[in-house]
Amino acid sequence: MREALKDAKVSHETAPTGTTVMPGRRDREWPRPGRCRVITIANQKGGVGKTTSSVNLAASLAMHGAQVLVVDLDPQGNASTALGVDHHAEVPSIYDVLIEDMPLADIVVAAPDIPNLFCAPATLNLAGAEIELVSKVARESRLQRALDAYDKDKYDYVLIDCPPSLGLLTVNALVGGEELLIPIQCEYYALEGLGQLIRTVDLVRAHLNPHLNVSTILLTMYDARTRLAAQVADDVRSHFGDVVLKTVIPRSVRVSEAPSYGQSVMTYDPGSSGALAYSEAASEVAHRGAGAVQ
Ligand SMILES: Nc1ncnc2c1ncn2[C@@H]1O[C@H](COP(=O)(O)OP(=O)(O)OP(=O)(O)O)[C@@H](O)[C@H]1O
Ligand SMILES: [Mg+2]
Repeated sequence: MREALKDAKVSHETAPTGTTVMPGRRDREWPRPGRCRVITIANQKGGVGKTTSSVNLAASLAMHGAQVLVVDLDPQGNASTALGVDHHAEVPSIYDVLIEDMPLADIVVAAPDIPNLFCAPATLNLAGAEIELVSKVARESRLQRALDAYDKDKYDYVLIDCPPSLGLLTVNALVGGEELLIPIQCEYYALEGLGQLIRTVDLVRAHLNPHLNVSTILLTMYDARTRLAAQVADDVRSHFGDVVLKTVIPRSVRVSEAPSYGQSVMTYDPGSSGALAYSEAASEVAHRGAGAVQ
């Protein structure tokens, strides 16, 4: 895998301007799940890599033959931006789905750079949804209903990018998904708030979605030069064991640059350490999940 991606980087660098050679196209396809896996990516702590992980895992999976939908559930619309998808105020968006009962099919658009990758965009309107949902019928399960009404089984994966809170938007994502992926930044305070997140998951499981399972933890922004990062990683592994992916995402400037070009790092710089790591992490998700979810 690494070798293949290294080669691809050479092609990328020598490709004519405006052309991007995608590494995944030349790799073998990864196993595809028997039915759609809906994976919620949540952590109420801000800036831990939720969006970066949603976008780059989704891009990697799509590049390896899967049909993937990213649902942007954050009013900031960062996942929409990173996928190069329009999300100005007039664009039909996940707000219309949650509040106006618009079918998901009417808002889903293809991501421009990567075949098989789609996005349900978020606009700033969504900031009001947190309040507007309160008075709605079945306020916690509106996303689940929309997904059920949509032909989601045409996708192998639906990845839901959550805002940094445990409000109704995140609860909708926890009710709508069967798997929870928690990105954890390898920094001090990383584990603070995790207890609260797990308690929320337990409540959702008890009352709203018995199928919810904390399937995956991904360590992000790992700085190998610091002892602190290694300590945090050790702590998380000793707490959560095999749920933690073996692959750790390093801090990489290329990862943080990519969104400003409306791209995932997988197309922006496929040979960078960040792209290689996200590809490895996505491969783990695809390979371990294929057995876990029938
Ligand atoms: N591996 C990485 N290396 C370098 N920078 C990174 C990496 N992962 C994420 N970043 C940067 O860190 C910041 C936070 O990442 P991101 O937006 O993915 O977090 P988030 O959890 O979605 O944030 P929010 O809670 O605001 O939604 C961004 O500027 C992003 O570009
Ligand atoms: Mg985000």
